[in-house]
Amino acid sequence: MQDSAFSSSPGQPYVVILGTGGTIAGLAARVSDNLGYTAAQVGVGQLVAAIPSLTDAGPVLTEQVAQVDSKDMSFEVWKQLAARVKHYLAREDVQGIVITHGTDTIEETAFFLQAVCQPAKPVVLTCAMRPASALVPDGPQNVLDAAAVARFKGAQGVLVVCAGTIYAALDVQKVHTYQLDAFSSGDDGPLGYVEEGGARMVRNWPVAKTSPAQAAIKLIADRVPASDWPRVEIVMNYAGASGAVVQALVAQGVQGLVVAATGNGTLHQDLEAALLVAQANGVSVVRATRCVNGRVLPKPDDRLPDSEGLSPVKARVALMLNLLCSPAGARQAVPG
Ligand code: SIN
Repeated sequence: MQDSAFSSSPGQPYVVILGTGGTIAGLAARVSDNLGYTAAQVGVGQLVAAIPSLTDAGPVLTEQVAQVDSKDMSFEVWKQLAARVKHYLAREDVQGIVITHGTDTIEETAFFLQAVCQPAKPVVLTCAMRPASALVPDGPQNVLDAAAVARFKGAQGVLVVCAGTIYAALDVQKVHTYQLDAFSSGDDGPLGYVEEGGARMVRNWPVAKTSPAQAAIKLIADRVPASDWPRVEIVMNYAGASGAVVQALVAQGVQGLVVAATGNGTLHQDLEAALLVAQANGVSVVRATRCVNGRVLPKPDDRLPDSEGLSPVKARVALMLNLLCSPAGARQAVPG
């Protein structure tokens, strides 16, 4: 499975770099074109070969797990990626993992991997806002920074590194369409910063959760075919919203619904009525907020549960994994 090994310092532990595509592997016809490129063109081995100093601190292994524009990210790729992450995390000669990924859904992949891997070693997703063919691409420095974090003593958990900043999978969010520094952790702030190959931490590294529900999630995602993962959709509240989209999704057999509510979880009365009917009929419903900062603060008379601070896209992943571990979801598991 492994594509290439790069080393200038044998005997040291490896950092494994898994490629999944994205703008970081994108190509445009002109070096000045940072928009009209095609994502996911350059192999991860080629990206790494173009950064000779990457092996200064230790050897690197690369593997191409997927080659996709992350807007097209699928459960199938997530399942393969989680399997390769678990494989390499179990190797004693691997210190940490870097994953090159598109920026558009990196926060969802990071959240998913934290939930299903709960790694005690660092798994660092990184990306680029400019294609590999740009006059001044940002990808190589981001990969160098991500590898530095993967080698940093004490680093652990699933992280995103972009533009010199280290974020936790739980709270990172893409907040800019174009700037190189495109991410934010909202109210929580970043975990730290990468400076000249070192990490300056301002928050603690993410720790693995040990609850029984978490243990079930860690096990089950491997065992159920991706095609059988529960269908959870996102609907949004807005001026003039109605219950029509919810009713159509319920008619199609959706198992879970996350609503990106307004403000502190408020919903148009017609949308709320449709969601309450869906919930009464066995569909799991979760209320997140479409606000970039803050969280839905629960009230005693809430009739729809809130997302406990998760953004709509992460609440969707969490709900999908919870449904996968419910008795009905677990029945789909193949022995493993
Ligand atoms: C993608 O998400 O794969 C394309 C966009 C990007 O990486 O910035």
